[in-house]
Amino acid sequence: MNKTKKHTITAALPYANGALHLGHLAGAYLPADIYARFLRLQGKDVIFVCGSDEHGAAITIRAKKEGKTPQEIIDKYHTINKKSFEDLGISFDMYHRTSDPLHHKTAQDFFLKLVENGDEFEEKESEQYFDEEYQQFLADRYIIGTCPTCGHEEAYGDQCESCGATLSPMELVNPRSTMSGKTPVLRTTKHWYFKLDKHGEWLKTWLQEGKKDGKQLHDPKDWKKHVLGQCSSWLEEGLLPRAITRDLDWGIKVPLEGADGKVLYVWFDAPIGYISATKQWAEDNSTDEMPIDWKDYWQGDNAELTHFIGKDNIVFHCIVFPAMLSAHGDYVLPTNVPANQFLNLEGKKFSKSKGWVIEQHQYLEEFKDFPNKEDALRYALIRTLPETKDGDFKWDEFVALHDNELVANLGNFINRVVSLTHKYYDGRVPAVVEGMIQGMDETADAVTVDTILQKVAHKMEELERYILKFEFKNAIQTVMDIASMGNIILQRNEPWKLWKESPDSPIVANSMYVSLQIAAALSVVTAPFLPFTSHKLRTLLSLKLLVGEDFGATREHLMTGKPLMPQGHIINEPELLFAKINDRKDKSRLELIERQKVQLEELKQQAAVANKKAEPIKEICTFDDFTKIDLRVGTIVAAQKVKKSKKLLQLTIDLGFEKRTVVSGIALHYSAEEVIGQQVTLVANLAPRKMMGIDSEGMVLMAEDKDGKLVFVNPAIATSNGITVQ
Ligand code: MF3
Ligand code: ZN
Repeated sequence: MNKTKKHTITAALPYANGALHLGHLAGAYLPADIYARFLRLQGKDVIFVCGSDEHGAAITIRAKKEGKTPQEIIDKYHTINKKSFEDLGISFDMYHRTSDPLHHKTAQDFFLKLVENGDEFEEKESEQYFDEEYQQFLADRYIIGTCPTCGHEEAYGDQCESCGATLSPMELVNPRSTMSGKTPVLRTTKHWYFKLDKHGEWLKTWLQEGKKDGKQLHDPKDWKKHVLGQCSSWLEEGLLPRAITRDLDWGIKVPLEGADGKVLYVWFDAPIGYISATKQWAEDNSTDEMPIDWKDYWQGDNAELTHFIGKDNIVFHCIVFPAMLSAHGDYVLPTNVPANQFLNLEGKKFSKSKGWVIEQHQYLEEFKDFPNKEDALRYALIRTLPETKDGDFKWDEFVALHDNELVANLGNFINRVVSLTHKYYDGRVPAVVEGMIQGMDETADAVTVDTILQKVAHKMEELERYILKFEFKNAIQTVMDIASMGNIILQRNEPWKLWKESPDSPIVANSMYVSLQIAAALSVVTAPFLPFTSHKLRTLLSLKLLVGEDFGATREHLMTGKPLMPQGHIINEPELLFAKINDRKDKSRLELIERQKVQLEELKQQAAVANKKAEPIKEICTFDDFTKIDLRVGTIVAAQKVKKSKKLLQLTIDLGFEKRTVVSGIALHYSAEEVIGQQVTLVANLAPRKMMGIDSEGMVLMAEDKDGKLVFVNPAIATSNGITVQ
């Protein structure tokens, strides 16, 4: 067995029943990618796996909805998701799929090992809903009925989407099959139950103390509080045996006699998909000279397993899968499960069905002409990662982060350094000369080049500490701090001023030298977060592409005064890393963002209209009651705001035969100026009322339009003569 530490990084296998959106990206895939890229940059032995989760009712239901076979569905979404991950630079070493025969075999063998170990399963008969017309047992999601909690009539067998209650199919009132629409019958069926309850004790010690079988495996202080919190509430409620087989024809066959028509439950097979993906990767990348043993990444003391997931997957990754791994016996347990909370979109939950969503592939398509669109998105998401609480993606913030930070700080610094190097030194790195320059600290004396570069090295140490604690928001701040350092050095030394009078001044050469070294360091520290930018920057500085160990080597150089780019090294011609969105000359990018905002705004309005419940009809009003009302047509001839009131306008209405003063509550909808000349319908015989000290002699009829705005009930006639409307 290979002795070096192996880092196995997994990101939740997404269901291949739909396209992934920015919430998924920020929840699991982007943090996992940053972590994997960082460890690689440290020269660590890393395998980063993911793939499509292709079994379960989620897939068959989608297939039914789209009128396709499950196979067509998984092929479609596997392709879309794999491609959009690649395009966004999510650097999986293997993006596998659970429909692959290698996975079927791996999952079946895993199940059989548990059977063989004995006492991990119990077979139990129970009654379950069965659709007689389709001759099929019904998965929980295949049954709908009335929610016992809130009365919603379309609740699913596992959950009510109206009130959020967790349900079991038996609790539904008036259950119906989604297959035939008929009432299902109860039939006895046999299933395998994983005895999760048996694992409760050691799971508790492992989660609370990081110990198993007396061995310290991790420090629980390194785990996120909300992850441990969710786990303790599960453990406190007590664990129960869980059925891990289903009566379905889509999935991995239960490899036992007498189990015809039964498949493994999707949540049993999916996490094993991480193992299958590793096997596939090892198989694809092994050579005779360099054979790879997948087991090095999953078994033995050198394997370190980290699961990146969203918070809805915590119980499966911190309780169920660890119990399965332990029951199997050969595997390590995860060292950490740095789950994220959820990301919202402009203050509301992502919802595909409501269209309140930005899908990965959709962003890439709509932003196809946007310069560096991948890192623009990665940056905005990293800065809003829902690491400890829910986050919110907002387009205005996307613009601000892009223009104020990527463009104004990072992009601006690089552009200045590269342009000035070409102007002063024909694109060559100058030599350091004897003499001090201004450092970052305004109050301190001038400093040496080495002092400044050591400060950059210390920032890199800070960056490393944050990443290893899964604090990626803080980590990217250190990258921006390094760019700011570069800008401050240029700003405080102003080589452009001195260069004109004394181009040989040490301040010019040294501040340019330092800035160039900082630029080179930035090409390394940006790599885990903004891989496209890092790549461009390496090319711009004509540096070789990054390989393992560059992080440590870079820090070491800065620390010990060795150049990252030696004197005489020639860099390439300036090229912009980012293009400002709020650009006065080219409005195309701002317009693109505006279109995104308009789309969301329209959705909001549609939803508001759809949600608006009609007011209940009032009590019956008799014909006699109605004829009491004397309606007259008039014209507003004068109007003014009522002092100290936000809502009221004082109107003078000419009825043709007399003028009336009316106080009307329309000021939030209309200004005084705009109503003058407006024709109105007036309730002319309403008893006069004092409002804000003014006698109001009648009421102007108003009605609400579809957007909730008050509009005049307009008589639509040209004269303002008093006419009785009846
Ligand atoms: N498909 C699941 C979801 O989207 C996640 C599966 S993670 C795995 O919620 F561990 F099971 F692979
Ligand atoms: Zn409900």
